[in-house]
Amino acid sequence: MTAEERPVVLVAEELEPLVGDPPAWPSGARHRWLPADADLPVDDGVVGLVPLLSRTVGPREMDRLPRLRVVANYAVGYDNVDVAAAAERGVAVTNTPDVLTESTADLTWALLLAAARRLREGLELARSGEWEGWRPDLLLGRDLQGRTLGIVGAGRIGAAVARRAPGFGMRVAYWSRSQRADLERDLGAVRMDDLSELLAAADVVSLHLPLTAATEGILDRDALGAMKEGSVLVNTARGGLVETEALADALRDGPLAAAGLDVYRDEPEIPKALRELPGCFVLPHLGSATVRTRVDMWELAAENVRRVLRGDEPLTPVEPS
Ligand code: GLV
Ligand code: GLV
Repeated sequence: MTAEERPVVLVAEELEPLVGDPPAWPSGARHRWLPADADLPVDDGVVGLVPLLSRTVGPREMDRLPRLRVVANYAVGYDNVDVAAAAERGVAVTNTPDVLTESTADLTWALLLAAARRLREGLELARSGEWEGWRPDLLLGRDLQGRTLGIVGAGRIGAAVARRAPGFGMRVAYWSRSQRADLERDLGAVRMDDLSELLAAADVVSLHLPLTAATEGILDRDALGAMKEGSVLVNTARGGLVETEALADALRDGPLAAAGLDVYRDEPEIPKALRELPGCFVLPHLGSATVRTRVDMWELAAENVRRVLRGDEPLTPVEPS
């Protein structure tokens, strides 16, 4: 085989600072960085692809890569990849669960605390140079002690967020596809049959669902309207779960007191209303952003590629829903 005929593994170029020297791939495959803004090429040499969550990998993209065998998404969420279309083409899809669970749960609590305690307004006041001194009624937020944390989607991350709740004196309720006997036993968590029931009971609601056709816009105007007066919404999952305008209205006119958001429907666009509302604490999708987690995510994605190229089962495959 000439160098040009050797198979290729295409890896999102944004990973270069973490990865350093391109790794050796099985079967003599060559490593090639995929430039950030470039469309996927038409290339019958590409056998492996490691995309970021911002890249759509659908039928059109996969048809450009007829020898593709694996898409190792550099994320736990894989709504950017058409898993059914991949299955039809015999392409394996993998994600990066587990390695990012704890860092994402930490960031969720950072947002929860920031939103509940009005840290955005506090920071703005402190930085403005216009703080006039301690006052009994300055920027009063919400207590967490004795209140209920409502987990929407008790998968790995939802459960890890729930497990931090006793440290803050919070009770846990959850709404999830499957029962979590472990959370019920360890935390006294209460499972709710209906999302509306959970929303009506929780003082803080934290979203941990994958984005699918069934969950898109699940926090619509009615759902947001069913939340408790003065409650807090936290979203470190996917922006598409929440209807943006309804959220802005719920922050402006109630029932929401505050929101902590890490994710948005059309990233990197953060809707202006959410950027400007004082009760809305916004971050630029930092859930898993720690050095160790981002390195671990790379190692898991790379190992998935290697396994598929060697003809083995990947470590963390995802299936069409
Ligand atoms: C980040 O959002 C991820 O899905 O890993
Ligand atoms: C996401 O919620 C996961 O289960 O890792």
